[in-house]
Amino acid sequence: MIEFSNVSKIYPHGQSSALENVSLKIAEGEMVFLTGHSGAGKSTVLRIISGMEKVTAGTVYFGGNNITRLSKSQLPYYRRLIGMIFQDHKLMMNKTVAENVALPLLIKNLTMEEAMMSVEHALQKVGLLSKINTYPLYLSAGEQQRVGIARAIVAKPKVLLADEPTGNLDYALSQEIMSLFLELNSDGMTVVMATHDLDLVASSHKRSIELQYGKVISDLVI
Ligand SMILES: Nc1ncnc2c1ncn2[C@@H]1O[C@H](COP(=O)(O)OP(=O)(O)OP(=O)(O)O)[C@@H](O)[C@H]1O
Ligand SMILES: [Mg+2]
Repeated sequence: MIEFSNVSKIYPHGQSSALENVSLKIAEGEMVFLTGHSGAGKSTVLRIISGMEKVTAGTVYFGGNNITRLSKSQLPYYRRLIGMIFQDHKLMMNKTVAENVALPLLIKNLTMEEAMMSVEHALQKVGLLSKINTYPLYLSAGEQQRVGIARAIVAKPKVLLADEPTGNLDYALSQEIMSLFLELNSDGMTVVMATHDLDLVASSHKRSIELQYGKVISDLVI
């Protein structure tokens, strides 16, 4: 579903390559961790898959299509195939949980009324339907992150990209968020997650790709 073929990335003003000759394949329905030291290139891989960042060399395929040269007008349509989750959930504090989760659908020009069924379904999935009319400020850190996940899945993306989604959470909450990702994956969602948390990786028994200074140094199931 996702393929990197000899991908290199040098940022403008970057000191060295953020990625160097990275080749990898991720199949539909897979759950894959990206690990490695700070600065290894994990977020860069996710940003390239999401279309937020262009490659310097090499080719990236998504569902068989070369996404390396998407035009500005094609990009928003491509992005709809992707759900993104960040360490900082990036929720809008002045909007309700429902309005936050609805956002990807409102961008697709649905009305709030039309979006509501999908919003309820996504909140049900993350176990937060009862908080639908609450504001994020009144939610715990773990609940806020789950709202971020509901927003990422509401438009039924093909792949879920998560960048350190448990980075701000304690051990128990990280486990809880992790089991949610595993559940989404067992429902068929392709998930790619960057993480520093090797305990989470070890307890999940999923594929893990380790980066070091922009290169893949291991790719295995622990
Ligand atoms: N916008 C940017 N401009 C210049 N260099 C960048 C930019 N973003 C990242 N880099 C560099 O690219 C390399 C890879 O960064 P990246 O953010 O992908 O690492 P990471 O593995 O996600 O690290 P962390 O675990 O700290 O999040 C690093 O050397 C970083 O300094
Ligand atoms: Mg990062």
